[in-house]
Amino acid sequence: MKTALCCLLAVGLFALSITSCSKSKNNSTTTMTLYDSLGGTTLVEDANPPDNGPSMIQQGRLNIRKVIDSTIFVIAADDSINRYFHTLLSEVGAGNLSGFDSLSRNLTDFVSVAAGATSYLYTGLTMPDAHNPNVNPRIAAAVTSGAFSEFLNDVAAGATQVGVSTMLIDQVAAKLETVEPAVVGQ
Ligand code: HEM
Repeated sequence: MKTALCCLLAVGLFALSITSCSKSKNNSTTTMTLYDSLGGTTLVEDANPPDNGPSMIQQGRLNIRKVIDSTIFVIAADDSINRYFHTLLSEVGAGNLSGFDSLSRNLTDFVSVAAGATSYLYTGLTMPDAHNPNVNPRIAAAVTSGAFSEFLNDVAAGATQVGVSTMLIDQVAAKLETVEPAVVGQ
């Protein structure tokens, strides 16, 4: 009888703990960031780590890097804006990937932070400096608003190529649109 009572008590406590866990889950108000939707902080194997980079990477950062790299290739083939990237494309054509790696890292940092990542920092040039040919000799000319729109089209095409949903692409584009005044006409 005593044993049966103990068992009953244990079962009761177990049930209570399950209820209280789910209760606290239900009551908590966690807000999902765009970074979470793009994969979040779960660590996964990085099949193509940058030189000296870690072999594990957050899923969100990996997905953003895939979008960025694929976008750079879309831009390279886009005759309406690829002239801006003349320096980069000449280097890549000559087999020098240092500028590509640096742009990939900076853009991935920038978009990760903009999407809500908290484990990374953007340490590159400010947006006005990065897009002012008098400050950054790697950009061939000041960006027009038409070129900015085309850049966003290329980001969408790059993201589509790596399987990002239209809904998430729209959210990424909305973030990037806010940067337009700091990029255009510098
Ligand atoms: C939301 C839009 C944009 C963002 C967030 C962005 C971000 C960046 C970042 C982070 C860099 C690297 C800065 C550094 O080296 O420290 C960069 C460089 C550059 N951006 Fe943008 N950019 C945007 C739009 C554009 C547009 C519309 C163009 C031209 C059509 C453009 C052309 C360039 C070029 C040519 C460089 C130099 C690339 C190199 O290093 O070879 N960007 N941008």
